[in-house]
Amino acid sequence: MLTTTDFLRWIERCAEVIAANRDYLVELDAAIGDADHGANMDRGFQAVMQKFAQENPAEIGALLKTVAMTLISTVGGAAGPLYGTFFLQMATKLAGKAEISAADWAAALEAAVQGVQQRGKAEAGDKTMIDALLPAVTALRQALSDGVAFSAALKAAAQAAEQGMRETIPLVARKGRASYLGERSAGHQDPGATSSYLLLKAAAEVWAGVE
Ligand SMILES: Nc1ncnc2c1ncn2[C@@H]1O[C@H](COP(=O)(O)OP(=O)(O)OP(=O)(O)O)[C@@H](O)[C@H]1O
Ligand SMILES: [Mg+2]
Repeated sequence: MLTTTDFLRWIERCAEVIAANRDYLVELDAAIGDADHGANMDRGFQAVMQKFAQENPAEIGALLKTVAMTLISTVGGAAGPLYGTFFLQMATKLAGKAEISAADWAAALEAAVQGVQQRGKAEAGDKTMIDALLPAVTALRQALSDGVAFSAALKAAAQAAEQGMRETIPLVARKGRASYLGERSAGHQDPGATSSYLLLKAAAEVWAGVE
């Protein structure tokens, strides 16, 4: 069972982890983009933390909607609208709920990833955040249907995202700014896949004790 407080803890951890990896994400984006992904994401999550310092969200849907709207208005670039869609779809799925189940989380994550795909039109193998997100959804679903404990299922999802992230290295980018480089985009890890992995790792860490 995940509560509104658990979601607040997740988002706080996301903000911490993104801040700690800001320069790393900038470095990755410098190789195949315009060196702003870490700065964009950090600005966005710091703005989210400022919002939550002012207002306490009533339920999970409202919390995620605030995250979505704040990211959309502060992150910019390609990642802003995409992560905005991610959290907005999740918010829609969990609207009005103060407590959700593991199955609800899987459905919400799935809706979030589908939203990113609809918005960005990226497929698996295009060297984007989708390459971390899709394997995570599959691993989470598989683990839950195998009857694995929620904390272990979250860990499996984060590990699948990490593997998907690493597997972006040899890929040639077919979406976003990195695609302008063509073959020269190969040999570098995708920044968006990396931030997606970090967000899912944050969930696995803060919800490790949740059953
Ligand atoms: N169509 C897409 N679908 C999914 N993810 C995408 C898409 N285009 C880009 N991305 C992700 O966004 C990341 C880049 O985000 P970033 O914040 O650096 O935006 P940007 O590319 O600099 O934006 P802009 O080109 O508008 O300045 C990429 O690493 C990739 O994972
Ligand atoms: Mg960029």
